[in-house]
Amino acid sequence: MNVGERHYRTIWLSDDKRSVEIIDQRWLPHEFRIEKIGTVGGIATAIRDMWVRGAPLIGVTAAYGVAIQMMDDPSDEALDAVWETLNKTRPTAINLRWALDEMRRHLKPLASKERAEAAYKRAAEIADEDVGLNRAIGENGLAIIREIAAKKKPGETVNILTHCNAGWLATVDYGTATAPIYLATEAGIPVHVYVDETRPRNQGAQLTAWEMAGHGVPHTLIVDNAGGHLMQHGDIDMVIVGTDRTTANGDVCNKIGTYLKALAAADNDVPFYVALPSPTIDWTVADGLAEIPIEERSGDEVSLVWGKTADGKIAQVRVSPDQTPAANPAFDVTPARLVTGLITERGVAKASREGLKAMFPERG
Ligand code: MRU
Repeated sequence: MNVGERHYRTIWLSDDKRSVEIIDQRWLPHEFRIEKIGTVGGIATAIRDMWVRGAPLIGVTAAYGVAIQMMDDPSDEALDAVWETLNKTRPTAINLRWALDEMRRHLKPLASKERAEAAYKRAAEIADEDVGLNRAIGENGLAIIREIAAKKKPGETVNILTHCNAGWLATVDYGTATAPIYLATEAGIPVHVYVDETRPRNQGAQLTAWEMAGHGVPHTLIVDNAGGHLMQHGDIDMVIVGTDRTTANGDVCNKIGTYLKALAAADNDVPFYVALPSPTIDWTVADGLAEIPIEERSGDEVSLVWGKTADGKIAQVRVSPDQTPAANPAFDVTPARLVTGLITERGVAKASREGLKAMFPERG
């Protein structure tokens, strides 16, 4: 997507053809910083400490991490070691393991001397594929927004609530939950987005709001607890969120707080959609609640909040007593029964084993 006049993806190969450059998301919306990363250690830090985040983007970043390793040491041992190192960086988003598996599957049969070149090529393909998947998700989600708009008076706004950032910053381009929103805006459908701030790391306030502002999408920032109230008052037409891992049964794991939005949506007959590319489906897992590992991040992310001070410094402030411990589960699971539909690259699937099988028969 564009930042000012220039088009950016969230990750690209550097001119030296071995490092990658990323948008360092820790500083947004206050500063737009680009970092160059040329070591596996640097890639691991960028994923773990969330310089890059969002399930599809951490997958692509890890794929480039494998390529960097192959340039340094293309042995089988090094390939297995980089898989282990990067797979440990964040436990919940399945795209990370998907991308690592895909790289290893692709590289293992090759001779060592062929691996580096093949690894950069496959990582670039995975990045390009992500853009194509998101574009297709956008088209499929756009059809739903069109249907909702058609039931309204001409010119009336479609109000969409989203949680966290499943935008272009969470992918390589377009985003998942945001792709239908961008396409609807381009198609001239009046949409307005309620952006959940998404405590504790404020991906909504810092990233989604920045994306919406940058692309001229009318939007309003709300605290995480406002969604239910707005739904009770008929202010939300639909919810669209992303996901870090969706099970073969259609359970959806996403940023903490998603479940509460789904409950409120069900209670108020508001359609609750989840946008996802197929690499986010974990076909090996059925019951999301029992089987998906939920990342537990530092309590400091709850107690200390990043922001920009009046004198222009980016700094943290403490919002709780020094001695108060904080817990920080980063994701929750929304059971399939609360999900209206899964917007995939192939179409909108029912959130059930049958629905996913029908959409992806080759996985059945
Ligand atoms: O902890 P984050 O910021 O990586 O969490 C991101 C999300 O929860 C997104 O909704 C999810 O990865 C889908 S991104 C298209």
